[in-house]
Amino acid sequence: MRVNWDIATAEKGGYDHFMLKEIHEQPKAIRDTLASRTKNGLVDLSKEISLSKEEIQNIEKIHFVACGTAYHAGMVGKYVFEELARIPVECDVASEYRYRNPIITERTLVIVVSQSGETADTLAALREAKKQGARVVAITNVVGSSVAREADDVIITWAGPEIAVASTKAYTSQLIAIYLLGVYFAQVRGHKSAAELQEIVTHLQELPGKAEQVLKLEKSIESFARSIAKHQNLFFLGRGLDFAVALEGSLKLKEISYIHSEAYAAGELKHGTLALIEENIPVISLATQKSVYDKMVSNIQEVKARGAHILGLAVEGDTELRKSVDEVIRIPATIDLLTPVLAVIPLQLIAYYACVERGYDVDKPRNLAKSVTVE
Ligand code: G6P
Repeated sequence: MRVNWDIATAEKGGYDHFMLKEIHEQPKAIRDTLASRTKNGLVDLSKEISLSKEEIQNIEKIHFVACGTAYHAGMVGKYVFEELARIPVECDVASEYRYRNPIITERTLVIVVSQSGETADTLAALREAKKQGARVVAITNVVGSSVAREADDVIITWAGPEIAVASTKAYTSQLIAIYLLGVYFAQVRGHKSAAELQEIVTHLQELPGKAEQVLKLEKSIESFARSIAKHQNLFFLGRGLDFAVALEGSLKLKEISYIHSEAYAAGELKHGTLALIEENIPVISLATQKSVYDKMVSNIQEVKARGAHILGLAVEGDTELRKSVDEVIRIPATIDLLTPVLAVIPLQLIAYYACVERGYDVDKPRNLAKSVTVE
């Protein structure tokens, strides 16, 4: 008997592309990134974070600095640290940070996020931050990378090797690392009670199982993705954390399917973008955040009134959204703060299947590199 196979096919483990394999590896990546970092229902990062309790208490501000998908993880980080630890947070793309003369003091904590740990702009920003006296924590997927070696402290994301240029499991693992650090700081700074933080940790531990449930929606997501593949323009809308996820969904779609898309904070629509909404244009609207749900629905209705074809992303149990949209995908419920981990998965699958439908190279999109080591 003769068996035809090559190493790349074998490494894809039965999937057509690395990206699809990596999307499906997310429950494990999330589980592995959480593993052994919780104790008695709370977070324990004492082996990884050398900052003393006093130093954590003295942090005046946090700067998230990163590129691409990792920058979008940092945007979620802004909400997490402001909500849990009440520390003011700025989030910058690394190529801008160094050139805008940021105000950095010894009480500034800079958190760099980088899958590869080798992105030139992120590394340069890290060096600049250190030179100006900031403490630097790195969140990276590569043990021994330049970023890991040069930062004061490192939280490794245990996503495993990510081969596809479009980042998926690294992003969700970065979010987990951010939540863990956010809860850890909150424990020290005491803005939330132990019971409140334990509840967040319980919800964190439920995420791998819930991510598996999202992946079961693949078939209906695929059919929506194939239906939008003929379009040249598309919009993503969201508020709050949904906006941060919308940016990531839009980036994924642009990177691999080459469909032009824009993500908007839904409240900004009326300040210009609404002019672009015409008959049948696909609009992906995220409505997972309870705190801004009604406002989001009214934005969706504005878009619907102009003839858009709307896919709504809702949370299980939501029977309202269906009335205002054309199609709906429901992800398992969790607390608002953690929803990005689940909400991004359908958007990754939409980008993937739109790319497949258009016949492009999923894992190696034109003009892009997995790791950008030049400025
Ligand atoms: C490149 C990749 C992106 C990635 C970005 C940052 O542009 O194509 O997927 O998000 O670099 O990479 P890093 O390794 O620093 O996370």
